Amino acid sequence: MKTEVIAASAQAEAGTSRGAELIRKGELVAFPTETVYGLGANGLNEAAVLRIFEAKGRPADNPLILHVARKNDVRKLWSHVPAIAGTLMDTFWPGPLTLIFTRAACVPDAVTAGLDTVAVRMPSDRTAQMLIRKAETPIAAPSANRSGRPSPTTAAHVLEDMDGRIPLILDGGPCTYGVESTVLSLCGKPTILRPGAVTREMLEAVIGPVALAPSILQPLGRHETAASPGMKYKHYAPQAEVLVVTGEPKAAAARIRTLYRQYDQEGKRCCIAATKQTFGFYRGLDAVTLGDRNDPLTLCQSLFATLRTLDARADVILTEGVAADDAGLAFMNRLLRSAGFHQESV
Ligand code: TXA
Ligand code: MG
Repeated sequence: MKTEVIAASAQAEAGTSRGAELIRKGELVAFPTETVYGLGANGLNEAAVLRIFEAKGRPADNPLILHVARKNDVRKLWSHVPAIAGTLMDTFWPGPLTLIFTRAACVPDAVTAGLDTVAVRMPSDRTAQMLIRKAETPIAAPSANRSGRPSPTTAAHVLEDMDGRIPLILDGGPCTYGVESTVLSLCGKPTILRPGAVTREMLEAVIGPVALAPSILQPLGRHETAASPGMKYKHYAPQAEVLVVTGEPKAAAARIRTLYRQYDQEGKRCCIAATKQTFGFYRGLDAVTLGDRNDPLTLCQSLFATLRTLDARADVILTEGVAADDAGLAFMNRLLRSAGFHQESV
């Protein structure tokens, strides 16, 4: 199959019309969102949804998010809309917040992986909204990477993973946030299953206490079941080994310099993903800057793209941990997973 790439910024109307036509025919279309690129299919067509799993190599027990263009569309997808969901949608939609609640009968099993709940979100990206409106159906979409790889934040990343596997990629330029949406379960006590740019602090300011799923910063215990099936799989991982050093920035940098020299002596190519504040500590070594450690959204934004870039030139990627609060929680969740929880504290 030939994969066509259409510049959605310049040709928004034509691109989204072509995309919607493919979605209606049961085909797959990759499209930009404000978080990461999604791999979309008609969310109410079981056969179309199954194609997503095939193209990604995704385990069948990992459910998908349905993307809607209007808040009201959740009414068709959930058993009912709880008051708390209304408040959250009014505050954070459209935007990077996914809400999970009891599903309605029209949602195919392939979307929910057999669970009795379904995840829904309304993206704010203009191309995504146009595509969903024109397709006239909720669009089921996971991140548009091959399963296990870092999520794509540019159309070029999608092409890297999906060339020849899907008919169309809509190129909307780099994604604003660079990490996937916050996933919040509203079944029982509100619980964050995956942190994102809508932070726990932001949610609590609107709805009061919000719990965090235990597996956000640690691997799932052997006998634990994942609240979110996605948490049990290896994720966001480049081929290179990733190691996270947490601690006071200067001490962490000193440890990273030592590790760099050790790996170097073993003949392994190293690269450091530093922050603006610590970059100067790595003079003479192969290092790049992720962003500002006091503004973790900037770290989130470049993390996946940087992992892909460094993967091409390093055997080992050395990174610094930051405080796991606000958007730092989303950053540390992705970073630790990409490292297979390989971390050291100084
Ligand atoms: O920002 C995003 O959310 C992106 C863009 C494309 O919208 N999508 C995305 O989808 O990240 P995906 O499939 O890569 O991640 C969805 C996560 C997985 O961890 C999955 O297990 C979880 O949400 N999930 C989906 N439905 C669920 C459900 N009913 N119950 C629990 N977890 C669910
Ligand atoms: Mg994903």
